This record gives sequence, C-alpha cells and structure tokens, in this order.
Amino acid sequence: MPKNLLLLAGDGIGPEIMDEVKKIINWLNINKKLQLKITEELAGGCSFDAHDTPLTDDVLYQAMDSDAVLLGAVGGPKYDEIEFSKRPERALLRLRKELRLFANLRPAICFSELVTASSLKPEIVSGLDILIVRELTGGIYFGEPRGVEPIANGDRKGVNTHVYTSKEIVRVAKVAFDLAMKRNKKVTSAEKSNVMEAGMLWKEEVQKLYDNNKDYADIELSHILADNCAMQLVRNPRQFDVIVTDNLFGDILSDQAAMLTGSLGMLPSASLSEKDKNGRIRSMYEPCHGSAPDIAGQGIANPLAMILSFAMALKYSLDLDKVADDIESAVKAVLKDGLRTPDIMENGKRKVSTSEIGSAVIEKLK
Ligand code: IPM
Ligand code: MG
Repeated sequence: MPKNLLLLAGDGIGPEIMDEVKKIINWLNINKKLQLKITEELAGGCSFDAHDTPLTDDVLYQAMDSDAVLLGAVGGPKYDEIEFSKRPERALLRLRKELRLFANLRPAICFSELVTASSLKPEIVSGLDILIVRELTGGIYFGEPRGVEPIANGDRKGVNTHVYTSKEIVRVAKVAFDLAMKRNKKVTSAEKSNVMEAGMLWKEEVQKLYDNNKDYADIELSHILADNCAMQLVRNPRQFDVIVTDNLFGDILSDQAAMLTGSLGMLPSASLSEKDKNGRIRSMYEPCHGSAPDIAGQGIANPLAMILSFAMALKYSLDLDKVADDIESAVKAVLKDGLRTPDIMENGKRKVSTSEIGSAVIEKLK
C-alpha cells in the first residue's frame, strides 16, 4: 500500500539534510519497490517568509492526513526579532500539540565507530544505548497562564506555567515502561520533586502505575532528581536504560545525552500520539539538533540524525522494520569506512560533505 510522507525541511541545514533522505526514499522506491509518496511543504521561518505564519492551516491538515511527518529543523537568527507567536519554533510546537504527539522518543546510542568522537572518555560512553522518553505536549512549554506583562513602576513580569495532570504523566510513563520491557527493563523517572509540587505528582503517579501493573514486575524502577540525572549522565551514563521525564527536562537531558554519542548530529527522534478511534497513531520524526544557521548552505551538515529519524519512521509508522534495520546498518557501515562530516571528524578519518555521506549510505544499501 502506498504511504504518504509529509516532508517539512524547514530552515538552516534542514533542506540539506532532508535532501539526503529524499535521495534515500527515491532509491528505495525504485530498488526496493516501496511506495513512499512524498509531499514537500514549508514550516518554520521559510513559511513565515512566504505566508507570514510559521505554519499554515493547510500544512497542518496535510500533516494530520499523512502517515508520517518528517521535519528537518526550524529557526535562525533572521527571525529573532519577530513577534513571539510567529517565531519559527511555533510551527514545531503547534504540530506537536495539534497532532497530540505526547511521547517523544530520543535514543542516544554511541556507535562503536564514534566512541572516540565524544568529548567524554571512550570507557564512559562505549556501548552506550539509552532511550529518553520525553513528554512533549504538556508542562511549561504549553502551560497557562503565560506571557509577558507590565506590572507596577514600569517593571515587567514574564510568566510560564509548569503543569501536569495525572493522566498526562501516566500516559507517557506507560510508553516508557512498555519500551523498557523490550529493552533492558530499567526505567528512571526524572523530576524535581524536592522543589516542585508537579514534580511530586509526577513521581507519585509513575510509582503508582508501576505498583499497580503486574506486567511491569520485571522492570526495575528508580526515581532521580533531574539535576542529579544531568550529573549522572556525564558521570556514568551506562547506568541508564530508559529515562522518562517531562517536556523541559527532556529537552535539556536529551541534548546532553546526544553529546555522549559523539555529536548532536547523530541523534534522531520520534514523536507519537495515542491511537485514535480508528486505531491510527500520528507521528513526526525529526533530528534532535537545530537548524545550525552558522553552517547552513555549506554542504557540511551531518545528515545522519535525519536519516536515522527516517529509519524510525519506517519502523514505527510504516511497518517497514527490515528496511529501517538496513538503513541503521548502512549508517554504521559508512562510519566504519571512516567517512565523517566535520562535526564527528577525527584524525585518520575522511572528511566528507553532507551529500557524500548520504550517497555512501545508499551505496551500503545496495
Ligand atoms: C528540541 C528543540 C525544540 C524544543 C525547539 C526547537 C523548540 O530544542 O526539539 O529539542 O525545545 O523542544
Ligand atoms: Mg532541544
């Protein structure tokens, strides 16, 4: 059956890394007889330039109708001064909210070929394979009230609200437990229950879900304060299997985890909704890195996080596990051959461009 993919390349290096995924899709359609139909649309700063909004309703509806959305990156200094509601990042946040993508999976895997590319010692990161499950549609990113308002004496007040319901906590914790069952059966829940009431609720609800569910009996659950989690991630990251946490802590901890793998340019992500009435799950796949405006247009961006995000789409949304595995193996093989974009370059390796590394992945698929 044909599958519809909506490609939102976005800004900065987004289009360059998406080009490599397009090349792979094209190759798969021809050589593996897949029927992946792509539609390309604007989101982020490029949409603001064209339509005065970071995301048009039309693109949102197309996202809702597609089998999966692939997003490159949004944002750039050019848009720093525009009104908050029209900032490129709003495209991303609106897509996450409207598609109800509450579960964000960010796997941080240190490929053995990159073990010396990390800023941490090889013995700390070697064999690293952790999964951060980040809540993506709640917390301080979306809580009300929010805004900046004038107060007395010409002063101003900026407000954001960190808020979670039990239901939102349980829903994402369940995803973490279910995924842990297929992995090393260890879940660490990170919050700030020592200072935040919402953090206390988070901890209680996660514990309650665990205690009340016999299916999770084999799982080892622990709770950690988010600041300690940040510290443990650089001290001894391999103690973790699945980390479940809220939207903001997940944002921060996943950037940190990414660097353990060698480069932010290596970390893919999947964002998933609940099943709707028709059993359908909505999804969006994007690299964890940003639009990197400083290197955009130079053909030196690392497309591997984007390519690995596409592989996650094949696995989680398109029922093409085998093809996904092949792509992951191809990425590993390319790294093994010593090809490196500048972000992961090391002595003795061959520095290549964005498109060269993309083409090399296709060569390995043959
Ligand atoms: C991420 C990004 C986004 C976030 C930005 C671009 C809005 O940092 O996906 O981690 O904060 O969620
Ligand atoms: Mg982030």
